[in-house]
Amino acid sequence: MSINAVILAAGKGTRMRSQLPKVLHPLADKPMLNWVIDAANSIAAEKVCVIYGHGGEQVKQCCNTDKVCWTLQEQQLGTGHAVQTAFDCISDAEQVLVLYGDTPLIRQQTLQQLLEKTNVNDVGVVTAQFNAPTGLGRIIRNDQNDMIAIVEEKDADMAQKKITEINTGIMLLPVKPLKAWLQQLTCNNAQAELYLTDVIAMAVADGITIKTVQPTSNLEIMGVNNRLQLMQLERGYQHMQAEQLLEQGVMIRDASRFDLRGELVCAEDVSIDINVIIEGKVSLGRGVKIGSNCILKNVTIAADTEILANSILEDSTVGQSCLIGPFARLRPGTQLADNVKVGNFVETKKAIVGEGSKVSHLSYIGDANIGANVNIGAGTITCNYDGVNKFTTTIEDNVFVGSDSQLIAPVTIGKNAYIGAGSSVSKDAPAGKLTIARSRQKVIEAWQPPKKNK
Ligand code: UD1
Ligand code: CA
Repeated sequence: MSINAVILAAGKGTRMRSQLPKVLHPLADKPMLNWVIDAANSIAAEKVCVIYGHGGEQVKQCCNTDKVCWTLQEQQLGTGHAVQTAFDCISDAEQVLVLYGDTPLIRQQTLQQLLEKTNVNDVGVVTAQFNAPTGLGRIIRNDQNDMIAIVEEKDADMAQKKITEINTGIMLLPVKPLKAWLQQLTCNNAQAELYLTDVIAMAVADGITIKTVQPTSNLEIMGVNNRLQLMQLERGYQHMQAEQLLEQGVMIRDASRFDLRGELVCAEDVSIDINVIIEGKVSLGRGVKIGSNCILKNVTIAADTEILANSILEDSTVGQSCLIGPFARLRPGTQLADNVKVGNFVETKKAIVGEGSKVSHLSYIGDANIGANVNIGAGTITCNYDGVNKFTTTIEDNVFVGSDSQLIAPVTIGKNAYIGAGSSVSKDAPAGKLTIARSRQKVIEAWQPPKKNK
């Protein structure tokens, strides 16, 4: 059984009021079209054909794989016309799955059910119950409750308008007869369009059974036409993710103030305070606590570490039992071992910090290798950049760097060394010695306070 998918994405999306084509607007940081392509791939569609009309090149750039076959539909003459346009591209499979580019949250499980229920020669439709189905196609069933047609809202009579079972647009169709059905489509309808939905009655006339499946949640089949709907879908999706994490044992303090725009893996007893944003791939070890207003992007944090409020971590790894923040910023390439402390207003970048070391206040640590049990005093800065190139600072185990020091890279501070507060260290500091690099304190005995000019 071979399946190709066709994704209808040629609509203008005027109501988004945006330069960006509608299907490229992101939901949880991923363009809607990519959600749908991923859904098609999740059921192992051999080929995915995307019908586009607006923003051609821009749309193509969202996903450049050989598996996607891009088809331009110059004029949008209806969903039936869209599938006609793509027919050459999809005709080498037995079945075609129709998806919409603006309906991003369709789940693999629902599509899988559709595949299982629909025999190769049958037609399958994902339908849903809507209390307010205005604007949507209605599912018509006969006395035996078999689906026999779809009637668009604009073509429906009063009785049909009362039907609350609607067409989501997602369908599975047998390719061979589809070709003939598409050729029979006409524009004899209220919108003068070629409706894909008309193939249902044709299939029934050919003696084919229409199978239907419903999604677990209507979020899966909600289409986006404007920014309000996109926001609502995003909130719905975020709430659903928060609920899933709560079920898995993650303490999300407020599901309505939590955003996961990627993948989050948590061990037991993780707790996440309000307004936390998780991006990319994030993994949190047992007992990790994330304070309010933190942003974590592509980070791994080991057990019992606490990230205090207002910290931002990106492309970093943090060991066990560390204490980070509040107001810490770990930039890409930060690797902290266990029991490390990074305090308030500290910025790190490409910084490897050994076990038990502390950078507690107001520091910049960039391009640095720091050993174990090092204490970096308040206000210390690694001067890693000469305006052209970057250089490394190496600080060996058990070093104590006094407050407000500048370490002018490339420079090495040897094991057990002390750096006097306020030093500008531009040459290597030897192990086990105190190095002071600041001007000597002197007292000007003859000094007089300034007097006001007459
Ligand atoms: C369509 C269905 C309706 C269903 C509803 C679900 C038809 C005739 N009607 O209605 O039964 O309840 O979806 O949302 O199929 N598109 C193209 N090319 C075209 C026309 C549309 O690519 O020529 C794309 C759009 O970009 C969109 C999708 O197809 O992604 C649906 O088009 P839209 O005009 O929104 O369909 P509806 O009239 O809402
Ligand atoms: Ca339409």
